[in-house]
Amino acid sequence: MPSDTELRLTELRDALHRANHRYYVLDDPEISDAEYDSLMRELVALETAHPEYITIDSPTQRVGAPLDEAFAAVTHRQRMFSLDNVESIEELEAWQARLERTLGRDPNGYVCEQKIDGLAVSITYSEGRLVQAATRGDGSVGEDITANVRTIDAVPLRLMGDPPQLMEVRGEIYMPVSAFETLNARQAELGEKPYVNPRNTAAGSVRQKDPAKTAERALSIWLYQVGHVVGGPELSTQWDSLQWLADMGLRVNPASRRVDDVAAIEDYVATTEKGRHANDYEIDGVVVKLDELREQDEVGYTAKSPRWAVAFKLPPEEKTTTLEEIRINVGRTGAVTPYAVLDPVFVGGVTITNATLHNEGEIHRKDVREGDTVVVRRAGDVIPEVVGPVLSKRATGSKIWRMPAECPFCSNAIVQPEGEAKARCTGGFSCPSRLREYLYHFASRGAMDIEGLGYKTVDLLLNEGLIRDPADIFRLEAARLLEFEGWGETSVDNLLAAIDAARDRPLARVLTALGIDHVGGTVARSLAIRFGSLTALMEASEDDITEIEGIGPEIARSVVAWADDPDNRDLVDRLASAGVRLADPEPAEPVAGSLPLAGLSFVVTGTLGGFSRNEAKALIEERGGKVTGSVSGKTAALIAGASPGSKLAKAETLGVRVLDEDAFVALLEDGLGNESVD
Ligand code: IVH
Repeated sequence: MPSDTELRLTELRDALHRANHRYYVLDDPEISDAEYDSLMRELVALETAHPEYITIDSPTQRVGAPLDEAFAAVTHRQRMFSLDNVESIEELEAWQARLERTLGRDPNGYVCEQKIDGLAVSITYSEGRLVQAATRGDGSVGEDITANVRTIDAVPLRLMGDPPQLMEVRGEIYMPVSAFETLNARQAELGEKPYVNPRNTAAGSVRQKDPAKTAERALSIWLYQVGHVVGGPELSTQWDSLQWLADMGLRVNPASRRVDDVAAIEDYVATTEKGRHANDYEIDGVVVKLDELREQDEVGYTAKSPRWAVAFKLPPEEKTTTLEEIRINVGRTGAVTPYAVLDPVFVGGVTITNATLHNEGEIHRKDVREGDTVVVRRAGDVIPEVVGPVLSKRATGSKIWRMPAECPFCSNAIVQPEGEAKARCTGGFSCPSRLREYLYHFASRGAMDIEGLGYKTVDLLLNEGLIRDPADIFRLEAARLLEFEGWGETSVDNLLAAIDAARDRPLARVLTALGIDHVGGTVARSLAIRFGSLTALMEASEDDITEIEGIGPEIARSVVAWADDPDNRDLVDRLASAGVRLADPEPAEPVAGSLPLAGLSFVVTGTLGGFSRNEAKALIEERGGKVTGSVSGKTAALIAGASPGSKLAKAETLGVRVLDEDAFVALLEDGLGNESVD
């Protein structure tokens, strides 16, 4: 016989599960926030008094303890496929015609769904309890993100109705646009860098080691696919599957429709495109699936994707606005980046006020000028971009933009180094813009990781004249900091403790913090393992460095050039005398797993907008790939920018895959084979 306490616990949990479902899944709350809070308080109090009755699916148990290990690997019971894309009605019709040929008849209806721009997740429920959540990974093996997914309120910890013995369900985790905007408003207040887009932010959020951090992020989910099921009902259509998921309390997108033919699919695509920014989430297309599961089985899969479904990609939305001014930024390495100041325009679901123009060459190639009416766009996963000018609206007397000869921040010369796309400010750390960006990077996570030293504090320290180069961070004194408005003992102590802790970071972190061109976390680790100390690295030759697996000549050149620069030598001396440890007491652990492009060779040709040829090479090398000068049968892919010339023809003849700049960026982010989808 359950005791009164147990009965009350069950009542409270049921009421809270129901309230959650109404609020987060159906968006139709049934009880007030105050009632919810009072139920939750009572539950917490009862569970605190009777911890022996806490259950894993209790609404109080969403946020668990931080992980200290890496995310464990999870082998998917059924492979998580990606989708082939179609980009036009003709391609859609061709898909339908292929299906009709295979089936020997016109398919018996389709389900149209919005293609959510988030990250795919597989969630397993056992006896109706959430037991596991995993990322897609390479489709066969993903990562265990259970602890983080449990924090998402729209994901039930317990299913309703009559759940099967075991069920794997697939869906997309996303960050609502409104939550993304709130998050960025907060970043701006803190003087921190804004997040780039909701998708990357959602992906970063589910990969936090501490579920409490994920819980802060207001993520949500749509479920759209039934995976492996044991003991469930006989389902015969995708449409019924969606209904079944919804009946169990899972969040299923109400915008999905069952349609009969291609004409109706076209209507759905048109309506979706028109309303794409009316939703509080980003979509990058429409997914069309054969409705009948029997027909799905009949047409089957290719190696990579189902034949029974396609993604109709929506083109990024474009708008026109005025390019008011071209300004420049000096980044942490001294690289000068021009950017467009735009008359604010709402495009792709957000208001854009400026957009990078990469470098002077790119500005001339696009032929954009101050005062021009320009076309701008923002694809779901791409930062705002100026596509080009509307020449018919160009004012007479407009002038071609030239890189200023002097840095507007420090008045030192701006120079254009041979063979590089970007110009450089020669002011070193005397340039306030460079110093600011450098300090921010130096203190950031993955580098020296000094908590509390974001843009806001960096700006304050710079304005007060307390810091002239990064080594000054380690010479800050409590007495001066206490003079700042709003700074008490606690904040000063915390900052100084965080700085002190940073004196003993592993060498790999120090190398990352130093901001050597092309030396990110992975390369820094390889260098730390091989050399063990900064002194040893600074004496190394290019040959010594290229001996390390995964490090090519471009990176080696950049490291040696950095070590030869007297300013950098001076900085290293000053860091050493400020008590920063520049050597590992014990050898660093080798990097787990191999680099994403290891063993692959690439050719780069034509003009890329965002990278010089050398930068592109270095980025490939950093990931373990090789860059060669000519296309052969062994070339994994040709990266082709504008005006690619004969190498493109050769690649096409040899059947070597060709990646444009967007696909190249995706390659760098996700590795080969993942760059054309998602
Ligand atoms: S179905 C085998 N439905 O798109 C079926 N996927 O390129 C594969 N996606 O990895 C998935 N919305 O991350 C499906 N309504 C939807 C989707 C959707 C977004 C994503 C998913 C998948 C990728 C495929």
